[in-house]
Amino acid sequence: MALRLGDTAPDFSAESTAGPIKFHDFIGDSWVVFFSHPRDFTPVCTTELGYVARLKPDFERRNVKAIGLSIDPVDSHTKWAQDIKETQGHALNFPIIADPQKKVAELYGMIHPAHDEVFTVRTVFVIDPKKKVRLLITYPQTTGRNFDEILRVIDSLQLTDAHRVATPVNWKQGEDVIIVPAVSDEEAKGKFPKGWRTLKPYLRLTPQPK
Ligand code: BEZ
Repeated sequence: MALRLGDTAPDFSAESTAGPIKFHDFIGDSWVVFFSHPRDFTPVCTTELGYVARLKPDFERRNVKAIGLSIDPVDSHTKWAQDIKETQGHALNFPIIADPQKKVAELYGMIHPAHDEVFTVRTVFVIDPKKKVRLLITYPQTTGRNFDEILRVIDSLQLTDAHRVATPVNWKQGEDVIIVPAVSDEEAKGKFPKGWRTLKPYLRLTPQPK
């Protein structure tokens, strides 16, 4: 059955550009962005991997590790890494799993046969330190992902884990957030000392908690 939000991310062992990986050990106490590529030496993937490498400081600030996957072998990934560095100006600084048997791809539902019978689509999983799937997005092979959006969702998830808030449409860091309806006004007085604006009893906006 397809993975869903809240499921435990399945564990697996695989080879990667950083050596053998046991996925749950790799996650450790971090958040993880786990994403698949149709295959090596493809143009869209090349741009994505360079961009994710560039984002490393942004990931680290949020306690996030990136890890990619394609069904090509490690030696192919290693050769491709040279092209990524040359064309994108950022060397790979996170592992890419080699999955020639497609075991991990099948486990995570990364092959959508009606779209492509052989190669993985562009899936993204955000997994939290408890190993739970917190976000899953699937893109077609011809559309490069927006990793700034994935960072934005991680910011929202981390904020809502720490405070009883939700984030409104197109929310970005520093903007007002929503007090969840389960929090009464009485409880909100203690939790949100800066106060809030009540547009409707179920729609209360408060400055982003620190
Ligand atoms: C790519 O990754 O660049 C790609 C993959 C499949 C079709 C088109 C582009």
